Amino acid sequence: MNDLAEWARRYVDMVPHVSTLTRLAGDARSVVECGVRGGVSTWAILDGLPPDGRLLSIDIDPDVPEMVPPRVRDDPRWTLLTADDRKVEWPVADLVFIDTSHEHQHTADELLAAWRAGARTIALHDYMLPAVEDAVCVFVRRCGWSLEVEPSEWGLAVLRCP
Ligand SMILES: C[S@@+](CC[C@H](N)C(=O)[O-])C[C@H]1O[C@@H](n2cnc3c(N)ncnc32)[C@H](O)[C@@H]1O
Repeated sequence: MNDLAEWARRYVDMVPHVSTLTRLAGDARSVVECGVRGGVSTWAILDGLPPDGRLLSIDIDPDVPEMVPPRVRDDPRWTLLTADDRKVEWPVADLVFIDTSHEHQHTADELLAAWRAGARTIALHDYMLPAVEDAVCVFVRRCGWSLEVEPSEWGLAVLRCP
């Protein structure tokens, strides 16, 4: 499998946001991704990441290593951590991408962890879910970050540090 667009079509929900993730990763040296599944967002981030960039992906599902395509698995800039993202230390990151349970408290905890990791940009999939939208709005209000939403059936929120 060499074609990201074709791989994304298997999972459907990331199709409208692949090019935005690739663009955001182009401005980052260090990226943390929470929620990998079959690695569509992972592939999109790796496509934009500079040659000396690093991507740490965290997923609780032990089957993820078998689910991601060779394009992701064999990229030397990529590290996978099989863990609950609330229970591990995150490295310093310019960009954080969040796409896990979409539960309110979990999303709020991830936003706080991203802030603590020094992220300048945070992207979240499934902004159309009320729990995600609410957690994002609370964070943006408290921290004074800007919010843009790329519209789709799922919605991609992009939060930027002022
Ligand atoms: C919607 S899928 C991610 C889709 C992926 N971003 C893509 O582009 O295809 C959600 C993923 O979050 C993972 N997940 C759920 N809860 C988690 C947690 N507490 N910590 C880490 N990963 C979690 C699930 O195992 C699942 O693989």
